[in-house]
Amino acid sequence: MIIAIDGPAAVGTGTLARGLAARFNLAHLDSGLLYRAVAARVLAAEGDGSDPDQAEKAARTVTVESLSEPGLRSERVGRVASKVAVHPAVRQTLLGRQREFARRPPGETAGAVLDGRDIGTVVLPNADVKFFLTGPLNVRLARRVKELRARGERFIQARVEQDMRERDQRDRSRAAAPLAAATDAHVIDTTELDAEAVLETACRLVRSSPRTSRTKVRRVSGAPSDTAQKVRSQESP
Ligand code: DC
Repeated sequence: MIIAIDGPAAVGTGTLARGLAARFNLAHLDSGLLYRAVAARVLAAEGDGSDPDQAEKAARTVTVESLSEPGLRSERVGRVASKVAVHPAVRQTLLGRQREFARRPPGETAGAVLDGRDIGTVVLPNADVKFFLTGPLNVRLARRVKELRARGERFIQARVEQDMRERDQRDRSRAAAPLAAATDAHVIDTTELDAEAVLETACRLVRSSPRTSRTKVRRVSGAPSDTAQKVRSQESP
């Protein structure tokens, strides 16, 4: 089973992806980390993300293994990640890494869940289930601020808000693979929903999806019934 999740900054795509990965025994790839790893390399070379050749060169050295590098989740790296993400050559280079992950998910898993900005539209247009999360800027900002506080990062709230506004605008308006909902995505407005409610809504939609209902529920041998996991059935293509 392949699940695609997209949405703007701090809307909760990562939290939903981790939740679905745990529920359905899927490998998870946070595709934003790939762009962040490119940004970290560009910053280390004293770039600002605007030079397409420098960014492409950096992208070629990024692999899924690069994603545990420290510091990738900082606001500074996120800002430059959005800038390197406008270059088509960077996107093309990272496209292969993401598709390869979905084709051969690591570990003993029943598939993969990827989250980002263009997963359902460009990276995995044939994903079994697609979600697009939405939420107004003020709600997303409050979540990001809470997250930064929990991580003990120092920040100026007005700067975080400004960055988020600019990043959303850049991600939505770029020519190459802009942030957009796939026409066949389930759109979930997260304004009134906490993370648990978003996960429950998504789980219901996964279970009722015509694509995943072609998969059988298999119990892990000897495990309690609530650890049932979905696996591709023999007759699935
Ligand atoms: O999700 P995030 O904040 O970690 O992503 C950082 C930036 O990476 C985001 O502003 C745009 C870019 N990105 C992208 O263009 N396409 C993706 N699939 C994922 C992230």
